[in-house]
Amino acid sequence: MEGLRRLEYRGYDSAGVALVNGGVRRVRKLGKVAELQSALDADPCAGNAGVAHTRWATHGAPDEANAHPHISGRIVIVHNGIIENYEALKKTQTERGFDFTSETDTEVIAHQIMWHLSRGGDLLRAVSLALKDLKGTYALGVIDVEQPGHIVLVRNGSPLVIGAGADGGHYAASDVHALLQVTTDFIVLENGDIARIGRDGVRIFNGELEDGELRPVERAPVATPLSPHAIELGEFDHFMQKEIHDQPCAVTDTLEGRLLDDTVPDGILGPGAAALLDAVKAVQIVACGTSYHAGLVARHWFEEFAGVPCRVEIASEFRYRRQVILPGTLFVAISQSGETADTLAALALAKKCDYLPSVAICNVPESSLVRESDRVLMTHAGPEIGVASTKAFTTQLVTLLLLAMLLGKRAGMEPAVRAGLVAQLRNLPSRLEQALALEPRIRELAQQYADKNHVLFLGRGRHYPVAMEGALKMKEISYIHAEAYAAGELKHGPLALVDRGMPVVSVAPNDHLLAKLKSNLQEVRARGGVLHVFADSGAGFRSEGDSVVVIELNAPENAVAPIVFTLPLQILAYHTALLKGTDIDQPRNLAKSVTVE
Ligand code: F6R
Repeated sequence: MEGLRRLEYRGYDSAGVALVNGGVRRVRKLGKVAELQSALDADPCAGNAGVAHTRWATHGAPDEANAHPHISGRIVIVHNGIIENYEALKKTQTERGFDFTSETDTEVIAHQIMWHLSRGGDLLRAVSLALKDLKGTYALGVIDVEQPGHIVLVRNGSPLVIGAGADGGHYAASDVHALLQVTTDFIVLENGDIARIGRDGVRIFNGELEDGELRPVERAPVATPLSPHAIELGEFDHFMQKEIHDQPCAVTDTLEGRLLDDTVPDGILGPGAAALLDAVKAVQIVACGTSYHAGLVARHWFEEFAGVPCRVEIASEFRYRRQVILPGTLFVAISQSGETADTLAALALAKKCDYLPSVAICNVPESSLVRESDRVLMTHAGPEIGVASTKAFTTQLVTLLLLAMLLGKRAGMEPAVRAGLVAQLRNLPSRLEQALALEPRIRELAQQYADKNHVLFLGRGRHYPVAMEGALKMKEISYIHAEAYAAGELKHGPLALVDRGMPVVSVAPNDHLLAKLKSNLQEVRARGGVLHVFADSGAGFRSEGDSVVVIELNAPENAVAPIVFTLPLQILAYHTALLKGTDIDQPRNLAKSVTVE
């Protein structure tokens, strides 16, 4: 149950557990793990082998019948991922006489394993035969009720780790966080691995049957530096609030060892990075959601400081498009979790194309993205539990700026410019502390949002993606419809939305676009829109009663200003959601790691 609670942020539509003890006892509940806990408190169960699951619905509504574990005859199963050919399998299985009690794709896996088991052999063999029939991505935990001393595990595109507990038990989970209370040493399974854990230890096999036998493989354990306390709330009410406040430290940790006097050493990208960096003539960034917004900001840095053309694309679009690749293009994948299915698929596609070796920007060392990329720039944000990404975003921006500086060095960046950027980065944690100190004023401002249905966010240049990120935060945790526009685009349509009382949030750094932005904001004022401007203290904005509210930030350093301006928008979304009483850390319909397409 502790493991389930720690994993809950990844999916929270329903939760279930099945324990084998003579027979099998299964308890499933719609909603949070707390619902399952109450059911178990009222009617406890015990056993020596079990599987449990928190669900983010893909096939079938979030309800009890669709909750995992699923059962077919002697087989009890939990599954993450998607089975693409489930309809065809379901048809065959129905003809074979199997009954379906759910609308999930998972049930076909249970039936398929049961089918092979009923034809002889042990669970491991039945699972490996069933895998040949499945198309899709999955991580599985499977028990045969008649061989209860073992659990069979499969990894194929969805993450799965095994931990040996100090209590002599063996455990597996889709994330190391779930097991930190029993171990910090993990075996990370690779795609195609089948493992069996039990009282007698762990055995791992390559999934392919050779002459009817599975071939054993070795997977060395790795120690994680994470502590079980890394994911405790401390003095905060929500993980999102904690993670917003973690940002000065997270940025300091991400910069640690990466600034040398007034330069960024090539070595931050690993041994031999200089040759790769020398070859870069263009950059292609691929990511999803908040990580995509980080890429959009970075595009400005790559083009301005390094003079290399940079394209940024949403991974789910990129992966289905014909690639036209400029010679010498560096492929950069950005992902907090490193498990986002679309980003991983984009990376797999890029590896088959004519890109330079790939670079991952990621927050999870054990993740698939880190393992599958040629080079890695880790963000050291620490575990991010709130579903809305905060500190991952700002630390992604820091690493992307470092990368832009490495490329800038090749493009003849003046030493004074480089030293200036290094100084800005060193100063950044204290600028972020100053931005956090605005929380009481922003909390007050949030009161004007709680009864609104729509909000516009405006920005220009590299602050346009910051406005996009502000709008995403607002919509995902407060459920208020929020859209971001490049301020210059307003008059080409969206201005029609603005009427009396419509809140329009703007990010106003003191940069070369300030005068243009001010004109755009006048267009909003003239239509009765209420302006809430987060402005650099040197930008010369003045509050006018309730209709123009200016909150000043100290963000004079231009390059890092997008990082500083992000914080007040995160805080605004947080306090709006708090007033609305939404589930801030686990907003409806979402999950933290999107391991399905
Ligand atoms: C929004 C958010 C998502 C993620 C997106 C990609 O707050 O967290 O938009 O940014 O699902 O996730 P990663 O970065 O793990 O690939």
